[in-house]
Parts: sequence; structure tokens; C-alpha cells
Amino acid sequence: MEMAGNIDVTLPKAERYQQLAVALKGLLEGENDFLANQANMAALIFHSFDFHWVGFYWVKADELVLGAFQGPVACTRIKKGKGVCGTCWAKNEVQLVPDVNVFPGHIACSALSQSELVIPIVQDGEVKGVLDIDSVFLDDFDQHDVQGMSDLVDIMVSKWEK
Ligand code: SME
Repeated sequence: MEMAGNIDVTLPKAERYQQLAVALKGLLEGENDFLANQANMAALIFHSFDFHWVGFYWVKADELVLGAFQGPVACTRIKKGKGVCGTCWAKNEVQLVPDVNVFPGHIACSALSQSELVIPIVQDGEVKGVLDIDSVFLDDFDQHDVQGMSDLVDIMVSKWEK
């Protein structure tokens, strides 16, 4: 068994996400610091899969600004409606992009990224930020990832409300 934190990385995705949800609740339990929690969440996800980049962008005025992440250095500011992340913010919709090379306006922070999943982080109907995941493989994300990552984001947001 290969473990990343508390996660068995050899499990099928759906089960890995179940374990991740439990692990994330444990990590956030008893800690309210915004930066500490997003940093640990990015690390937990990154080390549970083989993704190239996992991190957050947060809405600040008319831009998304880079938050905590794991992976190579990334662009720091993204305008609303620009790239995959800015589109997720503008539309308040998950963006599952099997091939970033054909996504109009994709922002290539890393030439290695081939597919991307971006989940809006919404509180009281307003997008506060996005969770962005990049893969070096084409078509690396499926509905398990959409559901699993959305559930993890829900855990983070529900924690803010406590
Ligand atoms: N590719 C993203 C930019 C962020 S990096 O992938 C970390 C986009 O098009 O919004």
C-alpha cells in the first residue's frame, strides 16, 4: 500500500476521494487559519494523485490572485473571464478541459499541462475563488474528479461557516 498522508494512492479514484474527504475533515478540524488550511488542502490533493499542479486562486477586486499551491511556479493574476480559471469564475461553473491546447484563451503557466479541471469555490452564491488542477496527460479528468473535488471544496467552505 502506497500512502500519501492517510490516503492509499493505489485505490480507485472514487474510493480515494472518500478517503480524501475524511482526511481533509481531519486536517481542517480545530484550525481556522485560511492560509494554513488551503496550503494543507493543496498538499493533501497533490500527494494523493499524480497531478502536475494543484492550487487555489482567490477573487481580489477584478482579478484572481494566486493562493497556496503545490507544483511549479504559476502566473499570479488572472482577469475575470480569461483562461480556464477566469472562465470558471465568470460563469460560476466547473470547467473540465480534456485538452487545454484547444481551449480559447487558455493561460499556459506550464507548457507541460495538457488537461485541466477548475472548481468554483462559492459562498452565499458568490465565487470567492477557484480550485485549479492541471495534468500533464490529455483527458486526465472525469466525473469522479468533478464530484470528488467539488465535495472537497464543499468541506472547505462549510468549515468557514462554523
Ligand atoms: N491554466 C490556467 C492558469 C493557471 S495555471 O494552470 C496554474 C488558466 O488557463 O486559467
